[in-house]
Amino acid sequence: MGFQTKIINALLVVFMLSIMSCIRHRAAIQWPVYKADRSSSSYSPATQINRTNVGYLQMAWQFDPADAPAGVRYGKYECNPIVVDGIIYATSARRRVYAIEANTGMKIWSFDPFNGARGGGMCRGVTHWSNQDESRILFTADHFLYALEASSGKAILSFGQNGRVDLNENLGVNADSVWVKPTSPGIIYRDLIILGSEVSESYDAAPGHIRAYNVKTGEMEWIFHTIPQPGEFGYETWPPNAWTYTGGANNWGGMSLDIERGLVFAPLGSPTYDFYGANRKGANLFGNCLVALEAATGKRVWHFQSVHHDLWDYDLPAPPTLVSMQIDSSSRDLVSLTTKTGFLFLFDRETGESVFPIEEIPVPPAIVEGEESWPTQPFPTGPPPFSQQKLTESDLTDVSPEAREFVLERFQNLRSEGLYTPATAEGTIMLPGTRGGAEWGGSAYDPQTGLLYINANESPELLTLHKAGQQPAGRFSFYDYGSRYYKNYCASCHMDDLVGDISSPSLQDLKSRLAREETLEKIKKGAGRMPGFTLMTKNEEKAIIAFLYDESKDEIVPRSTRPESNKGYQNVTAYSSFNDQNGYPAIKQPWGTLNAYNVNTGKYEWQIPLGNYPEVQKSDDSHTGAENWGGPIVTAGGLVFIAATKDEKFRAFDKSNGQLLWETELAGGGYATPATYMHKGIQYVLISVTGTNENPSGTIRAFAVPKQYR
Ligand code: HEC
Repeated sequence: MGFQTKIINALLVVFMLSIMSCIRHRAAIQWPVYKADRSSSSYSPATQINRTNVGYLQMAWQFDPADAPAGVRYGKYECNPIVVDGIIYATSARRRVYAIEANTGMKIWSFDPFNGARGGGMCRGVTHWSNQDESRILFTADHFLYALEASSGKAILSFGQNGRVDLNENLGVNADSVWVKPTSPGIIYRDLIILGSEVSESYDAAPGHIRAYNVKTGEMEWIFHTIPQPGEFGYETWPPNAWTYTGGANNWGGMSLDIERGLVFAPLGSPTYDFYGANRKGANLFGNCLVALEAATGKRVWHFQSVHHDLWDYDLPAPPTLVSMQIDSSSRDLVSLTTKTGFLFLFDRETGESVFPIEEIPVPPAIVEGEESWPTQPFPTGPPPFSQQKLTESDLTDVSPEAREFVLERFQNLRSEGLYTPATAEGTIMLPGTRGGAEWGGSAYDPQTGLLYINANESPELLTLHKAGQQPAGRFSFYDYGSRYYKNYCASCHMDDLVGDISSPSLQDLKSRLAREETLEKIKKGAGRMPGFTLMTKNEEKAIIAFLYDESKDEIVPRSTRPESNKGYQNVTAYSSFNDQNGYPAIKQPWGTLNAYNVNTGKYEWQIPLGNYPEVQKSDDSHTGAENWGGPIVTAGGLVFIAATKDEKFRAFDKSNGQLLWETELAGGGYATPATYMHKGIQYVLISVTGTNENPSGTIRAFAVPKQYR
């Protein structure tokens, strides 16, 4: 080869390489599924935003649906948008569906399942399905599953009944007496959408059966009974006929799917009622189970029960992430499961065999009347838990002597015997609480390194069981009785003065918004995180309305009324955090963490506080951690992105060591899992931002690095 030919060849190679790199650089990278893909990896191969330039990340555009009706501010906006062929599909907090241009944030179309009515209800996103001929968006609102044309946003009228399927039907129970409102998107297998549900947390809940619908017709193709019926596996883990009157054991956090093996992995919630189980004695399969089902048929392949006879609302909250363990040159396909209790389980995908042996360990017994708690619970021998599992005196907060004094006084009157201590009338500490440990954001997995990223809360809660329907002694008005009832059963979420908080709406001025019957219906049926108060007596019903509507102050509650309802107990401090007098957790910092676990070595590579309250920092370089809602994502560019924290920041960390590389303040809480994609040569990172008083609808914000730094 002559010298000139060599140069020409070399030039050609350089030219080809640069074209290839250009193509690679410009190639679209999508986020077509909730949490990136059906493995729930929350991983993106995008590299444009990297360790070097992430510091320059800026808001590129913001999408404001501006669809909240006057006076309405919705709760957390938890949507993880999906991105397909340059179009973003997302729900708003009001639960309209939007198609948005990926590089400008301009609206293409919207669909309103509520026809102008108020809407709402927690929602984490939508599902995309396509074949050679068509492309559809499937999503749920209220108790319906809808199919829309992806190009136009028009309802596909041949799907179900006039474009939708009623999810209250086909459960084997009276459709009028239950509600089923999925909060996480379904998952696609071939022409099926496999769907879980959110149901009531109370005594009247619908069963959480998993169903698969044909994406073209809306026909139900299979159903898996999460509460077994006569003759089915697990039937004997309940009292006879429990399937006719108990509910829950529902998949509300979403699922993962192994496409090659045709297996769907569904994590299930607790059976109802969440905190008292006298009417459901037994282990209660498939409550709190990870079930592996044949995606084509719904047939059970294996299951693992993480909590027997749950009395703590320790739902399995997130789609389990599919991972592979590399040992030397061999690789084993696993499914990883994060729990509210702070455990990470790793199972063989095909057999359900645990990588680490799991031991059944005795736990404290229930002492409340009628309850039979399960004597043991499963503890994995590895990896170590990523959250604290017992609150002792030495764990109590040290932010100030006053705070310590405040929580210590309460602590001394509470039962605190560690994980799986059942509730008492006097009060039991629950750590982790119902907020986890891990939550619905789940984990992110980097296939390049084998690292699994998990965010978690350190947030003790209280359990206090009171017998329902017990009218206190004394003479009082309906208003006063209602006020007392409110303090006991409602204030833990809606706050003492009715103002609500980030998770629960304000109940001020209900008069102008809701008829009394509507309000009562809401209270009795429950919605979202609010349990239905099915055990209310008629006097209690009248009293709570009197209090909320500021009336019946002189009408005395008749003494003669016998308690009409004596069905069971109610946890009067459900979901309430154990805090100091300033609202910080009663436990020492950190109050929230981000953890990187190496699937290949079985060790944590790093664990850091996630979130920060500067006013109570111990030192400049130790963040306090904060309660967090929403998951992490990881990129080939070397970054972990996560918002989630109550301090309303959005952050990027170096994925190899947890070093904070970038943060920005959002306009509200980023209580969602981010998404990232490449479109027209630019990598964007999206986060849904919860609404505020100024902007009640919430927004989607897109971040990118400016041109000169790409
Ligand atoms: C565990 C927290 C929690 C508890 C306890 C709770 N709620 Fe709620 N409540 C919520 C949430 C969350 C919503 C919003 C539900 C939704 O997604 O629509 C709500 C909604 C409501 C609404 C509808 C408000 C509106 O503007 O539409 C009313 C009324 C209400 N609750 C009253 C009560 C009363 C009365 C009690 C006590 C008997 C109570 N709640 C107990 C969390 C709670």
